[in-house]
Amino acid sequence: MAKRWTNDLTAADVTPEAVFWNRRKLLAGLAGAGLGSIASGAIADDALEPNTWEEVTTYCNFYEFGTGKTDPATYAHEMTTSPWEVEIDGLVDNPGTYGFEQILAEMTLEERIYRFRCVEAWSMVIPWQGFELADLLNLAGVQEGAKYVAFETLLRPSEMPGTRYPVLDWPYREGLRLDEAMHPLTLMATGIFGKPLPNQNGAPLRLVVPWKYGFKSIKSVVKITLTDQEPPTSWNMANAREYGFYSNVNPEVDHPRWSQATERRIGGGLFSRRQPTLMFNGYEKEVASLYDGMDLTKYF
Ligand code: MTE
Repeated sequence: MAKRWTNDLTAADVTPEAVFWNRRKLLAGLAGAGLGSIASGAIADDALEPNTWEEVTTYCNFYEFGTGKTDPATYAHEMTTSPWEVEIDGLVDNPGTYGFEQILAEMTLEERIYRFRCVEAWSMVIPWQGFELADLLNLAGVQEGAKYVAFETLLRPSEMPGTRYPVLDWPYREGLRLDEAMHPLTLMATGIFGKPLPNQNGAPLRLVVPWKYGFKSIKSVVKITLTDQEPPTSWNMANAREYGFYSNVNPEVDHPRWSQATERRIGGGLFSRRQPTLMFNGYEKEVASLYDGMDLTKYF
């Protein structure tokens, strides 16, 4: 039986609105009592900044629909997501085209509440539903010699206005080392907040790798290839100096154009604040051993 990872964030971290506002009052009270520096200080406390459906579904990056944060929510409804097929090929025992429903029938869905940290230095806490990528890869049968997993997003210019411009070398491509892909934290998400993924968040099936910058979490996946070579990835191809293949969240390795030491937690309106970025986005205990002996400034 594969070991299952346990959430460190619970449903309580996605705070119902009423409770959220009570906490705000409590915080305001603490501030009045001169304890504000503790309440709003350097300690990363996800419970203080829950994200809402509204925030998660309207503040998005999905360049196939435009580069603005609200473009995906405006245009992604044009993407046809049913029927949906995922081609799995390369070094696998059972290559082929798998229907989305066919995949779902084989997988066990679970809820995972993860921190999500974009390379642009904003972050959210998102309750996903999905299955472990490892379960899908085991279904396909990973062959000896496979070292990496490559992913591709749908490319359908008639439904994706952003792909009519050469912003990136389409289709959007991402990749993981095989041990990263098989890690129990690595999720194929099918939903958020207990509902199917909205198109703008990568319907019907997207990758979520919570210890890496958000751009690794490729949306609307149509192809998965097992390979023995490190695969080309979109942002790395666009600018290798700024976006490494690994892109593990690391507060000590700055982006050439900005610091990665802190992040802006989306939400909270006036209370929106910067908080320290955590090594591996807070999943150090679970994933640091994957990189034992690696120079993380070189393999950034
Ligand atoms: N996947 C595709 N296909 N196209 C994209 O533009 N943007 C990435 C990632 N996956 C992107 C993508 C980036 S930069 C981030 S931060 C996350 O998706 C955003 O996910 P969200 O909009 O669901 O929060």
